[in-house]
Amino acid sequence: MSACQQVAIIHRVRGQETPDGAGVRLRRVLGNSQLRRFDPFLMLDELKSDQPGDYIAGFPDHPHRGFETVSYQLEGEMEHRDHLGNHGLVEPGGAQWMTAGRGVIHSEMPRPREGSLWGFQLWINLPAAQKLCAPRYRGLAAADIPEVEDAQGVVRRVIAGNSLGVAGAVGDIFVDPLFVDLRFPPGASLVHPLEPGHHSLLYCYRGSLEVAGERLPAGELAVLGEGSELGLIAAGEGAGALLLSARPLNEPVAQYGPFVMNTGAEIEQALRDYQNGTLVQR
Ligand code: CO
Repeated sequence: MSACQQVAIIHRVRGQETPDGAGVRLRRVLGNSQLRRFDPFLMLDELKSDQPGDYIAGFPDHPHRGFETVSYQLEGEMEHRDHLGNHGLVEPGGAQWMTAGRGVIHSEMPRPREGSLWGFQLWINLPAAQKLCAPRYRGLAAADIPEVEDAQGVVRRVIAGNSLGVAGAVGDIFVDPLFVDLRFPPGASLVHPLEPGHHSLLYCYRGSLEVAGERLPAGELAVLGEGSELGLIAAGEGAGALLLSARPLNEPVAQYGPFVMNTGAEIEQALRDYQNGTLVQR
């Protein structure tokens, strides 16, 4: 492999309107029929609406086991409560990184601000040896997320990993992820390095971007190919995009809704634990 191999799009996925929770209408970008998962990424949802009826019923108490959930808000808030009494609010520009591990039962309730709501939830798998670890939370206010602007006016908000020398707010995650929100003024460009061997995704949430000569419009996810340099050029209206990259686990995946394990027997155990009240540690 050459030292600066250009990254191209190898697959594109259009987000699909999907009902979830207690009747929330969201756009499932990863984890839909076009692309089930992309190791170690399990799901990416975008929740964007100015109609409270689309989301106000929220996501009442539900379990998770065996992976991590990352919530990231652009507009509006997400209120979080769990079985241990933890309570938090993901504010605009903020994030929550939750390692469900052995088990969490929680509610996530969208709260609009000035009538609008716009947020993301990403699910990232845990390695087999960590699937039953103790749950862990990292709540990030907007001001906790390092934000830098380059000479072209491209803003990078670094939630996790390392973006051109800027360390993200969250480190010490098993799959060594990069999670960066990229905001481009019209016509601006950026070259971003990617870690060799990692799996990388780019989701354009506003405007459109050109990647190796191909246009990626808002609402589309690009699965990125091998290479160490990702070149991006924003269209005339500018662009916003999430760049996600992580070390693949290369382990079997058994998934049943909010339980993601390695075998069917472990899924059956998770269901039994949930039914008899031992999913979570008290
Ligand atoms: Co949840």
